[in-house]
Amino acid sequence: MTDWKAEEDRYVLPTYEKFPLVLERGAGCFVWDDQGNRYLDLYGGHAVCALGHSPSVVTEAIAAQSKRLLFYSNLVYVKARAQAGKALVELCGAAGAQAFFCNSGAEANENAMRVARVVTGRPKIVATVGSFHGRTAGAMAATGNPKYKKQPAGLGADVVHVPFGDLDAAAAALDADAAGFILEPIQSMAGVMTPPAGYLGGLERLCRQHGALLILDQVQTGLGRVGAPTAESAFGVSPDLQTFAKALGSGVPAAAVLAAKSVAARVKSGDLGSTFGGGPLACAAVSATLSEISRLKLWENAVALEALVRETFAFPEIKEIRGRGLLLGLVLDGPSKGVRQALLEKKILVGGADDPSVIRLLPPLTVSAAEILLLRDALAEIFSTQAAAV
Ligand SMILES: Cc1ncc(COP(=O)(O)O)c(C=O)c1O
Repeated sequence: MTDWKAEEDRYVLPTYEKFPLVLERGAGCFVWDDQGNRYLDLYGGHAVCALGHSPSVVTEAIAAQSKRLLFYSNLVYVKARAQAGKALVELCGAAGAQAFFCNSGAEANENAMRVARVVTGRPKIVATVGSFHGRTAGAMAATGNPKYKKQPAGLGADVVHVPFGDLDAAAAALDADAAGFILEPIQSMAGVMTPPAGYLGGLERLCRQHGALLILDQVQTGLGRVGAPTAESAFGVSPDLQTFAKALGSGVPAAAVLAAKSVAARVKSGDLGSTFGGGPLACAAVSATLSEISRLKLWENAVALEALVRETFAFPEIKEIRGRGLLLGLVLDGPSKGVRQALLEKKILVGGADDPSVIRLLPPLTVSAAEILLLRDALAEIFSTQAAAV
């Protein structure tokens, strides 16, 4: 029998620390490996599978689209692109906004920063310490976590970093050169860091005052995950630019910049471009995903299951539960790695974070209470085994 792990290690660069699984299929919140083992996926395929794995609404939509027209670029109009744009604007409650489609979160952030520079005619981007915005040069320049900035030189972009949550520092950085302020409204990779109350609203006011654009990186927080579908309802702000990726296409690569009406009016032909972005296949996946999120109001499930986690995960080993909706960080009283390993042995997938004490939960937004309680029960067993061992 072929050892697919060995084959992949032989032919694919080892750029990721992987779960030691060869996955063959998925359905709902579960995935199965090539040995027939079933795993509960509370990492949501890397925060991508908001509708669960291989949701039929999406697989059917892309199968149908692939047979009609697999691809044509932005040089022509296609129904699927119009429908995807409409679905995004409507879900985000952003009347008059317009989308630019691309392929990944990093690319969406690059394009959002580009729009901010083009529209304001200013060079500088302000970003936050600890942030993660992607690995292309500009997105990495905006990333404020040194762990991801190891490449020696050439980041190029004019980016300054200020502490996340500090309005005085933001005010000082937002000078006449500032084109925009980019941030994750909740810093996910850092360890699910939520800013102090009033921070995002204060930032919006500062940006308006200084003529800079507010750019929300909603790659993880968008599309209902934090318990509300719009930036206004989730965070009380109306960003000039928002970026989306991850869940947008349910796993078919798709990303978008959503420009508010006032910004969209100032973007011209030739300012942005992408061969594959907005292709019919990706757009069919986007429309199907967004319609299903809206139809099922999945943000309401995120609110209900956050409450369940907060009520039932009362273990002394969990010091704090950070985050909102189904972007949650369980902060342990020590390193989380051993507990994540023990969960893997119990066939439950969860994420880590740059804060080593954090277990990150990013399950499908369709996850059920019973599935969340499987995690609670597994943690109870792991913590009691650990306690017995000391
Ligand atoms: C908040 C945020 N922004 C941007 C990115 C980059 O997205 P991609 O990997 O699709 O380029 C990520 C990826 O994890 C992310 O979490």
